[in-house]
Amino acid sequence: MVIRPLTRDDISAIHRLEVEAYTPELHESDAAFLRLIELFPDGAFGCFDDEGLCGYAFGVPLKAGSTLALRAPLATIPADADTFYVHDVAVAERCRGRGVGRLLAQRLLDLARTLGFSRSELVSVQGSAPFWEQFGFRSVREFEYAPGAASTKMVR
Ligand SMILES: CC(C)(COP(=O)(O)OP(=O)(O)OC[C@H]1O[C@@H](n2cnc3c(N)ncnc32)[C@H](O)[C@@H]1OP(=O)(O)O)[C@@H](O)C(=O)NCCC(=O)NCCS
Repeated sequence: MVIRPLTRDDISAIHRLEVEAYTPELHESDAAFLRLIELFPDGAFGCFDDEGLCGYAFGVPLKAGSTLALRAPLATIPADADTFYVHDVAVAERCRGRGVGRLLAQRLLDLARTLGFSRSELVSVQGSAPFWEQFGFRSVREFEYAPGAASTKMVR
């Protein structure tokens, strides 16, 4: 397995993995993924094995309390960003339970620390809060990130 930065050539594989990992109301647009790759390439990386993409991660600096709107490309990274926002960690079903999710999440959090962010936030969906609690995230608010999608805002 190798971890490398995501590029626009990976977008089809990202989309295929997303379809497998998320219910439709939680799907991003390709434009939103591409914008994150363009705006903050250090925070967009994938794990690849012999069969291709087996997991991806996206994170970006934002202002505390922000939430990325699904499908809307991010306009810019705020100059006064004070929080590292973990936007997405997803692993292909064929690779789950082998530590890939943990590796990708930890790599995003290591990046946040290297960049000097002491605060990280995320939106946990699909019942993944216990996964994030392992990294020290705690729930601060329940809401619907997308219609019908029970979600939890988490902070660490
Ligand atoms: C959540 C997800 C990324 C975990 O990836 P993974 O590669 O299977 O996770 P790992 O193998 O690294 O597991 C690490 C630990 O987290 C636990 N874990 C994994 N998924 C979990 C979940 N959904 N809830 C609670 N714990 C979970 C594992 O049991 C393991 O703990 P252990 O080491 O004590 O056994 C993966 O299930 C996924 O892609 N889900 C669909 C997309 C999604 O909902 N992402 C979260 C968006 S906020």
